[in-house]
Amino acid sequence: MSLLRIRHYPDPVLKQKAERITAFDGELRRLADDMLETMYAAPGVGLAAPQVGVSRRLIVLDCSPKDGEKQPLIAVNPEILTREGECCEEEGCLSVPEYYAKVVRSEKVTVRFQDLDGVTRQLEAGGLWAVCFQHEIDHLDGVLFVDRLSPLKRSLFRKKYQKILEQRQEQL
Ligand code: NI
Repeated sequence: MSLLRIRHYPDPVLKQKAERITAFDGELRRLADDMLETMYAAPGVGLAAPQVGVSRRLIVLDCSPKDGEKQPLIAVNPEILTREGECCEEEGCLSVPEYYAKVVRSEKVTVRFQDLDGVTRQLEAGGLWAVCFQHEIDHLDGVLFVDRLSPLKRSLFRKKYQKILEQRQEQL
């Protein structure tokens, strides 16, 4: 396993619509393993393939409590079938460092995806898992959480993020 380089906004790969996966092979398995390792190391609770520069429909998540047992979940070609309720939680993103904002999402979702063997699975998610699924699936369509902010908040984000990027470059 190896750590992958996380792409930061405004890297163009983050705005692309990712391609459906059709080959369930060792390469896919290796990518999923590397993404999980990269996510845990960051640390983060979710990671989508475009965030490591691979424009394919694969996400990994683990929203289990920090001091509990790990519950890694790998979802290939995930899609949201049903939505219920509304919530508004603070989100961050490994591709948008040092910026956090509240985003309106569905409270519960039903998600269908394939596992690494290509077997179709379906599950219901609530709480942090539901938010995380929506956030990561958005990545596969080139949508970042800051794209879901109001126009005013988004313009504030752009100014603040410009400074964050400048400061990070100074540190290099
Ligand atoms: Ni993200």
